[in-house]
Amino acid sequence: MDRIEFLKTASSVTVLLCLGIGLGGCSKDDDEKPPSTSPFSFDITQSPFNALETDGGWLLHPDRDVLLVNVGGDIRAFTSVCTHTGCSRQWSFPSGNFRCGCHGSTFSTDGDVVSDPANGSLAEFNVERTGDTVSVS
Ligand code: FES
Repeated sequence: MDRIEFLKTASSVTVLLCLGIGLGGCSKDDDEKPPSTSPFSFDITQSPFNALETDGGWLLHPDRDVLLVNVGGDIRAFTSVCTHTGCSRQWSFPSGNFRCGCHGSTFSTDGDVVSDPANGSLAEFNVERTGDTVSVS
């Protein structure tokens, strides 16, 4: 195989891989998977979850890497694994934003970055509420 023939073959393989034919490489699907956590539920009337009963109430789940917040009566849940370097347990909630205590990144209650050094949003989980029971998945 000469050099030109090799390059033609290599280009064809690359195109096939990017089309999802072969090993499935080059696909953006892996980046677009919805976030997931092991599903869990809690009673919002029980401590510490009763902090979520009022607008602006928040907490870091005691056993999971999940931030929870009440935004206008809706409970929202985000990963607590910071998109900067992965700290997950040093959060506070000053001025209505999540603040990672490791290096000071802040995130809105939509999970979007408000201030760096993080540059990626916090992944959000699905939340369903039935009466006093809140389910996160
Ligand atoms: S790990 Fe959160 S700001 Fe650095």
